[in-house]
Amino acid sequence: MSRKPIIAGNWKMNNTKSEAKALVEGILEGIKPLDKSKMPDVILAPTYTALWQVQDLIKDEPSIALGAQNVNPNKKGAYTGEISIDMLNDFSVKYIIIGHSERRQLFHESDEFINEKARAIIASNLIPIICCGETLEQREAGITDVHLASQITKAYNGISKDDALKTVVAYEPIWAIGTGKTCDAQEANRTIGEIRKVLTKLYDEDAASKIRILYGGSVKPSTIVEQMAQEEIDGGLIGGASLEAQSFVELIKGAM
Ligand code: 13P
Repeated sequence: MSRKPIIAGNWKMNNTKSEAKALVEGILEGIKPLDKSKMPDVILAPTYTALWQVQDLIKDEPSIALGAQNVNPNKKGAYTGEISIDMLNDFSVKYIIIGHSERRQLFHESDEFINEKARAIIASNLIPIICCGETLEQREAGITDVHLASQITKAYNGISKDDALKTVVAYEPIWAIGTGKTCDAQEANRTIGEIRKVLTKLYDEDAASKIRILYGGSVKPSTIVEQMAQEEIDGGLIGGASLEAQSFVELIKGAM
């Protein structure tokens, strides 16, 4: 596989400053003995309030990059409670997760808004991690692939091939998030293969073969090796198992 793997920790609304510090210190300690040349790209996406501290803790560790969990696509202004791309840039954030199912479902974010975010992030030379995923009802109704094709097509609306190459996709079946029910590795592989077909249609095979696509949904140290062995899966977007240093380090090792 020529695509470099990614292990990304989405902390969601967890970790105070002191908890964040302990977690990052544990991760830094755990990766010390690892061969850095074989390590995946590691991303930590803390809450906004811990960004400063995490940035400081990882500043001498080039194998770990900073991520954000969300962003507002507007430059600045009257958007109470929101954070801009320039503000994230201040903290050397490199990746921004957008379109997470929790944002779509709990905060009613539309495909159009997610597309707006993707374009603004790319325009600022940061990397969007564009999430997609189906509900259990959609899976049972046999419309998973159609639904994902729609989400991906809308997320990439108006984005050129050159810019699409600067993005990452995360396939996160909603029924597998935080439930302990991992999507079977072969099925996740098949579904991600379908997402690549959509990217081939939107762009071409070259783009589809270069864009990294992660799997997310109850990824654990016990599942990562089989997941990483799949041709189409380029890494993991991890919630629960990224909140504990030892398990996150095991996930990094599983991707080496
Ligand atoms: P869990 O790993 O806790 O299932 O969360 C997955 C996720 O939503 C990552 O963005």
